[in-house]
Amino acid sequence: MHTMTDPEDNWLWIIGPGAIGRLLAASLMEARQRELCEHETSALPRVLLLGRQAMAGQAVVLDMTTPESPTFSVKLNYSTIDTLQDSPPRKPSAIWLTTKAHGVPGVWQQLAPHITPETPVTCWQNGLSAQPWLAERHANLLCASTTEGAWLPAETGANATPDADSTADEFQHLGVQHAGRGHTWLGAWQSDGDGDGDGEPDSQSHQAALVQCDWLRAAGFACEQTPDIQTRLWHKLAINAAINPLVARYRIRNGQLRDRPFAPMVRQAVEEISAVLDSEGIPAPRGGWQALVEQVIRATANNRASMLQDVLAGRPTEVEAILGPLRRTAARHGLALPLLDDLYCQLSTPQR
Ligand SMILES: NC(=O)c1ccc[n+]([C@@H]2O[C@H](COP(=O)([O-])OP(=O)(O)OC[C@H]3O[C@@H](n4cnc5c(N)ncnc54)[C@H](OP(=O)(O)O)[C@@H]3O)[C@@H](O)[C@H]2O)c1
Repeated sequence: MHTMTDPEDNWLWIIGPGAIGRLLAASLMEARQRELCEHETSALPRVLLLGRQAMAGQAVVLDMTTPESPTFSVKLNYSTIDTLQDSPPRKPSAIWLTTKAHGVPGVWQQLAPHITPETPVTCWQNGLSAQPWLAERHANLLCASTTEGAWLPAETGANATPDADSTADEFQHLGVQHAGRGHTWLGAWQSDGDGDGDGEPDSQSHQAALVQCDWLRAAGFACEQTPDIQTRLWHKLAINAAINPLVARYRIRNGQLRDRPFAPMVRQAVEEISAVLDSEGIPAPRGGWQALVEQVIRATANNRASMLQDVLAGRPTEVEAILGPLRRTAARHGLALPLLDDLYCQLSTPQR
């Protein structure tokens, strides 16, 4: 175990109490309580969950249903992000950002005055917009790319508000469904041209990545530290870009992409994406992009992608985080992206 700090003073702030934030918070706290019960000590951090919504009291109970179906509940500290201004809690030893990509600048504005440049901050967002944006503002940056799946049960959605008559000792319950187990890669962000790359084995970001992988493994996640998180993020982006904009635009489940008229569109999207990635020197997966995308569509046939759910709910989507980096890279290399550009324009205008 790569110990980072005195466990008594070891606080992890998870900012963004949505599906992924709750999954991570509940799993870590459950593992910490189990370790404390069995060994009376734990190197896992205490978790403070920070969100925008006020809750009843300074703690919440997370009710998590696992993919194998049993449900467990854990209590943990909760604050609204606004309270950082008035009474900042004890400094964190690490911060995980689990908002959507477009939420990161707003969070950063509130967070930056309260943390030191040494605090490791980990981005959990899909796409590749929040990470380079934050890398320009914070040196000790880590990124995670995960294929874990989680969603919020409707009855305890992200917008749950306290009951008018609830008291401070009645904790608000927030649900989360861990839909499917996956794999997580975590690594230090490496800025372009950074000779003393953050991925250097002795850099503070690299050390933080090792510690955080330990936390995640102890919490039951399959996790690997990687010296090249950017390639992992590009790979996840490529798959998301081939599937999510199409299913969101046509309001279909992933599996319908195998049928006409969508199958030829998937092939065109993959051709456009792989040309951009080739031009950028991002290695293709063994077996090629078409085969990998088809495999993911098969494995997620019944899913409604989060971009589709956002469109249906009238919420902002992550289309900029996913298609934006491809469009900018294509422009630099003089490549045309007729289908992806069209999807970007369609999804960037408010959907009805
Ligand atoms: N869910 C998955 O299975 C999954 C898997 C892999 C990667 N990801 C990635 O993980 C990221 C989060 O996804 P998600 O599914 O967890 O989204 P989500 O359920 O929408 O959660 C986002 C959370 O961030 C909160 N938030 C937004 N702005 C905030 C702010 N300024 N301060 C504090 N909290 C704020 C939102 O609160 P409000 O209720 O106030 O809006 C919401 O609770 C996305 O980039 C997604 O692509 C998700």
